[in-house]
This record gives sequence, C-alpha cells and structure tokens, in this order.
Amino acid sequence: FGLLKRVNAYLGEYLSKKSRNKESFSDNCFSRSSSNSSIVTEEGLFEQPEPLASGTAVMEKILLRRSSLLRDQQQAWQESLEGREMLEFRQSLPAYKEKDTILTAILQNQVVIISGETGCGKTTQIPQFILESEIDSARGAFCSIICTQPRRISAISVSERVASERGEKLGESVGYKVRLEGIKGRDTRLLFCTTGILLRRLLVDRNLKGVTHVIVDEIHERGMNEDFLLIVLKDLLPRRPELKLILMSATLDAELFSSYFDGAPLIHIPGFTYPVRTHFLENILEMTGYRLTPSNQIDDYGQERMWKMSKQAPRKRKSQIVSSVEDALRAADFKDFSPQIQESLSCWNPDCIGFNLIEYLLSYICENERPGAVLVFMTGWDDISSLKDKLQAHPVLGDPSRVLLLTCHGSMASSEQKLIFEEPEDGVRKIVLTTNIAETSITINDVVFVLDCGKAKETSYDALNNTPCLLPSWVSKVSTQQRRGRAGRVQPGECYHLYPRCVYDAFTEYQLPEILRTPLQSLCLQIKSLKLGSISEFLSRALQSPKLLAVQNAIEYLKVIGALDENENLTVLGRYLTMLPVEPKLGKMLILGAILNCLDPVLTIVAGLSVRDPFLTPLDKKDLAETAKLQFSHDHSDHLALVRAYEGWKEAEKDLAGYDYCWKNFLSAQSMKAIDSLREEFLSLLKDTGLIDGYATSCNDWSYDQHLIRAIICYGLYPGICSVVHNEKSFSLKTMEDGPVLLYSNSVNARESRIPYPWLVFNEKIKVNSVFLRDSTAVSDSVLLLFGGSISRGDVLLNPQIVLHLHHELISAIRLLVSEDQCDGRFVFGRPD
Ligand code: CDP
Ligand code: MG
Repeated sequence: FGLLKRVNAYLGEYLSKKSRNKESFSDNCFSRSSSNSSIVTEEGLFEQPEPLASGTAVMEKILLRRSSLLRDQQQAWQESLEGREMLEFRQSLPAYKEKDTILTAILQNQVVIISGETGCGKTTQIPQFILESEIDSARGAFCSIICTQPRRISAISVSERVASERGEKLGESVGYKVRLEGIKGRDTRLLFCTTGILLRRLLVDRNLKGVTHVIVDEIHERGMNEDFLLIVLKDLLPRRPELKLILMSATLDAELFSSYFDGAPLIHIPGFTYPVRTHFLENILEMTGYRLTPSNQIDDYGQERMWKMSKQAPRKRKSQIVSSVEDALRAADFKDFSPQIQESLSCWNPDCIGFNLIEYLLSYICENERPGAVLVFMTGWDDISSLKDKLQAHPVLGDPSRVLLLTCHGSMASSEQKLIFEEPEDGVRKIVLTTNIAETSITINDVVFVLDCGKAKETSYDALNNTPCLLPSWVSKVSTQQRRGRAGRVQPGECYHLYPRCVYDAFTEYQLPEILRTPLQSLCLQIKSLKLGSISEFLSRALQSPKLLAVQNAIEYLKVIGALDENENLTVLGRYLTMLPVEPKLGKMLILGAILNCLDPVLTIVAGLSVRDPFLTPLDKKDLAETAKLQFSHDHSDHLALVRAYEGWKEAEKDLAGYDYCWKNFLSAQSMKAIDSLREEFLSLLKDTGLIDGYATSCNDWSYDQHLIRAIICYGLYPGICSVVHNEKSFSLKTMEDGPVLLYSNSVNARESRIPYPWLVFNEKIKVNSVFLRDSTAVSDSVLLLFGGSISRGDVLLNPQIVLHLHHELISAIRLLVSEDQCDGRFVFGRPD
C-alpha cells in the first residue's frame, strides 16, 4: 500500500501539472520525438523550398528562373536520341492517345476520374502529362503534384520508372516517399508516396499548402486508407478551390466515385489486350494428363500446412465465400469429363492450392510452350517462399541457365524489384511468383502465361495496418479477370486457374471495401488525430459508410483502453497509438514495453500475435504437440511460452538447426521467420515515435522480469479478461459478458488443474458451441489493478517528463507491486531442454 501511495502521488503531481498547463503539455508530449519523429521528417520532405504564400517579387523571380531551367532540361531530353526513343514507347501506350482530353478535363474541373485497364499507362503517364504541361508553360517550379499508391513497392518502382522516362535520376523533378524511406530534391515537383504518408502530412498540414494536384491511384481496390483519404479530400476541396484532384481506377465501376464527387467527369482509356485462353482445373488435368490424388495433396503442402489447416479451421472457415464455394463444389457436375478427371476433381481440396500441381504445370510450360514469362499468383509471401524452395530443387525449374526464378511481394528489396522488369537472356524463361500486388499495381511486360491459385491473403505488411492475420480467402471475379488480363499484354496468352470452373462461378463479383470488413479502431484514432470532429458523423460521409454499431463498438473499445476520453478526445496514449500503424492492443504493449525497458519479449509477443499461430497442432499428433508446447511453459502464459519458443529457435538458428528445432517442438518455421522480421519492423516503428532512441541495452534492463512482461500483456489485452474460480479438483472460467467460458485445448493453461492467479487475460474469444478463449496469460490482482485500462494511468506512464525524471523509481515501484505472486519470479530464456 505504501508503494501504491507513491505511484498515486506521482499521478497526482502529474495531473495537477497537466491541468495547470494543458496547452504546453500537449506540445511537450511530442517533444521527445522531435529528433527523429517520422512526422517531422515527412513534413520536411514535403516542404516547399520557397513557400508561395510569401509571394514576394524576389521569390516569384527565383521560381520563374527555376521554371525556365526545368523547361530547358525537359526540352533537351525530348530532343535527344534516347528521349525520342522513350517518347515513342510512351506514345504506344493507350493513355498517351487520351493526353489532350485528360489535360483539358483537369483544366476545366476540380475533380476528374480516370479509368483504364492495368498497364494502359495511368500511373506512369498521367502524373507525367501534368508535370510536363506545367513545365512547358514555364510555371514548372510553381506546381507540386502528389500521387498516392496503396503500397510502398509500387510508389518506389513507379517513381523510378517515371524518372527514367524523363531521363533523370530520382530526386530531380520526380521523387518518392514511403515510411522510413524517400528520395526528394529541391526541384522535385512530382512525388509518389503511399496513401499513409499523405494522411500523415494532413496531420500537420490540413490544407496541403503549396500542393497543386493530388492524384489518388488504384481507387478500385477500396482500401481503408484510400476511402478515408477521399472523405478528407472531399472536405478540403471547397477550402482549396485551385487544388485539382484526380482519381484513377483499373476497373470500370468508376461511376460510384463520380456521383460521390457531385458528378465529376469520367474519362475511360480504351485499352487493348490480346485474347487470353482460359483453362480451369479440369481442362488443365485433361491437357497435361496430370492426376490429383489424396496422397500428393498432402505432399503438396507438407505436413506442416495440413496441420495449420486443421488448427485454424474453426476460426475462419465459416466465412460466407468459402461455404458458397464448397456448396458449388458439392453441387458440381463434372460428367462431361473422363472418369479419371472426375475422380481427380472429387479429391481436390479447396484449402490446398497444390504445390505439386504448380511445379508440374511450370515444368510443362518450360518443356512444351513458346517463349514468354510466367506469372504465378500465390496467396502470400510465406507460400511464395516455400514454393520457391521447392522449385529450386527441381532439375529444370531450379536450373539458372534455363529458368530465372523471381518473387514479387510487398516487402521485397529494391534490388530484387528491378530484376522483375528486366528481360531475361535468350533461352531463359522468367518465372515470377507473386502476391496479388501484380494484379494491378505492378505491370510486368513480357508475361504470356498466368497461373492463378484463386486466393489472396493479407500480407504481414497489411497486418501492420491493423488487419488481423487472415487465412487465404477466395478472390472476386473482378480480381480473376485482372489476373487473367496480365497474360495478354504483348501477344495472345494463356491463363491457368488452379480450381474448377464451378468454383469461379461461385466467386463474388467484387470484394467488399476494406472499411466494411475490418475493425475500425485504428481508423477512429486517425479521425481524431486529424481533428475531423465526431467519428460517427465523419464516417457517415464515407463512400460506403460502415454500420453505426461497428463504429460505436470501436469508440467504446477505445474509451475502455484509455485511447479516447469520455468526450471522445484523444488521450496522450491515443496520440502515441496513432503514430504506430498497428492494432491498438499491440501498440499499447509496444509502448509500455519501451517505457518499462522490457522490450525484447514484448517485440516477440506482438510479432507472434500478428502472424499465424506458430504452435502447430496436427490432428493425429494432438497430444504430442500439446505436450511439446507445455515444455515451454511453467508460468501459466501462452504468450511467455511463445517468447521461450522463439528464443530457443533463435539459439538453434545460430547452429543452422532452426528447422530441426521447429520440427521437434511442433513449431512453424515460417511463423518463426515472420516473427523475426516483424520484430525489426516494430522496432523501427517505435524509434519513429521517439519512445526509444535506438536499440540500446537499457531497453532490456527488465526483459527477464516475468511479472513486468505479464503486466504489459495485461495492459494490451485488457478488457479481454476472465476470472478464475477454483473448485476442489480443477477450476472454471467466467467473463462478465459471456458467463462460463472454456480454453482452447492447446493453451498451456488448459492442461493445468490449478492456476495460482485470480485472472486470465486473453487475445481473442471465439464462439463455436461454447465460448472459447485463445492464448491466455494468468495475472494477479495487483497487475489488473495497475494495468487494467484506466485512462489516467495510460497518461501517467506516457508523460515524457515523468518518464524521464522518475523512470527508475517508478519502474521499481511497479515491479515490487506486481511481484507478490507465488511463482519463482525470474524468466529464463532459451531452449526448453
Ligand atoms: O497504371 P497502369 O496500370 O495503367 O500502367 P503503368 O503502371 O503506368 O504502366 C504503363 C506501362 O509502362 C506498362 O505497360 C509497362 O510497359 C511500362 N512500365 C515499365 O516498363 N516499367 C515499370 N516499372 C512500370 C511501367
Ligand atoms: Mg497503375
């Protein structure tokens, strides 16, 4: 109680300081981050070298001189031999033929919507048309064009392409900016950036001062950020009448956007693609003579994948799309096909793309087909890397003198990106394994063959954007058409869909917009940080508004976790959370882990919660797998078990024994690798916020203290909490809302007969017949008391003044308070053996 009093005294001191000096406090709380905060850097990168607002005659003169310099450079390039060759290529693109129409429409209207097939030249040409016409009119230095892309990789690759089409290096008139990376110079007038970067700029510059054109690309994808940006821009247009807004879409449903922007004109760029022959699974089997058998399907994904499927099944397979596809398969009638094919199709498993089939088909194409690159659409980067390993062991596909095997996904390195666009040597066939990123964002010129697995999954990068890890789900018909279209760009092509026709028929026409299918908590925080007023009022103005209940739930949750106060205003915690593009519960853990110098295990836990469960439970080896997990735990926490498992894997990796370690302990090697790279990503996010300066050892002063780790887990997962009620032989669990609940059998707590703590915090509950809890950690009364979601408590820990001055004292007090438990107190990393 003495210690609790001391903590309360700090709290009181802090609160009175806050009420005395409210304004300066809100500035203060960012002051620690000013040295390396991304907001500041981004603002710097966006800054106009000479703000037009100053409007002095001297300034005007400088800008005019620079404009004429830009024009001279542009003309010199256009007249050079290389420049003329480049122009010839550009003129061959369908977008070029519409150049005048597009420029006139932009001149005459504030908002213009442009649609055209992927590859017709929207992204590379339209921003360039605007830039060129501004430069030609000798006002080049006065314009500032921003073109947003949903993904960082397309922002980078497109800016490189446009710079080279203009005969320049990146950073001259063309630049890019993505999170943590960017190239922009004094004369940069066209900037490609991710949608998130523009949203962050709006945070510090609500009117986009100095910007003349905003181009929002890929609006057909209906990503959450893009839909959000459109509401903000719609509000901005009347305040900035001279600002031009151009929306670009790869599909024809652009009318929706036109009516949203009061009947803005629509321009369609008629495209040209060669015919593409479509093969569904039944045709592929017939054509190649390949047969699916139950045994090679199990081989296809290896044991590991089959385990995952059975483990994850109750969670996600209930989705409507999957069940309608399953219905379609059940009702399918393949009687036009030979008995062998009928049999083969009847054992086709919709959850299994079939690596063997892909390998077979690729080698078939290499041996029998004309030259041309092959594009293979896979579900996500983990599948891509497993398939790549498999193909590299193949005598033909793994032979670099015959096949150039490349991958394409959101988190690949820039050097790898360039290879994708290059033509291979004669006699070498390029095969690119890709996620849905190559559907519309990236165009690979020489593709003639497309393999389509029919599914897509959010990548780990998307998980960072507050999307919980998803199982692969079926794509829409529109996506399928886009994938097919990739094959007919240079000559007639072939598209192989690795699923039967009846499955395609069951696909939905379009995918639901992200804003209607993902949790809204992060979006609500962003609305607040941009000071856009009432959350529900703001969201009611979206292109398609989310349900009121979904919005209310999100607001309520944010209040409970202390990110919003009673009046829906951001708290200090809320403001830090807006700087971390992860789910609020994960953000809270990262923040507290950084403040309490207990970062390492927290990075692992947060990364572990963002990927597929690394603990595998194969149906036929359930007992063995659960016992294996139990060795990692003696402290009533699935989360701490994960930290131990990861530490053990890391150790084993040093001896190159990571895979064996995973095999022995029923762990997914892929998830372990994913955790490893996500940890780095989260670390750089934390540096962005200014909460840590680098990965100094002091960040881990208390990383071994399991009580503190428990406290941090509780801080993140609250209000996911249930009480433990012991009876004679065992215990039962209860939550406030559901009454009695059960634990999943693979939880380490499910094997215990006693839990020496009164509470369990959990990540997620799922209702099957009863309510089941996944991954839980036992916590004591004092942990719950101190860390269970009070608003002021969030603030006291996040006040930089308090953190700096009282840091050590505060942590010691907290440690003592939370370590009254019966366990042995020290947390030991390393292999279980
Ligand atoms: O945006 P949209 O899909 O309409 O096409 P784009 O990205 O502007 O690409 C137009 C053309 O530029 C493509 O068809 C490619 O031929 C070429 N391109 C390229 O060669 N290298 C790139 N990195 C991007 C585009
Ligand atoms: Mg494009």
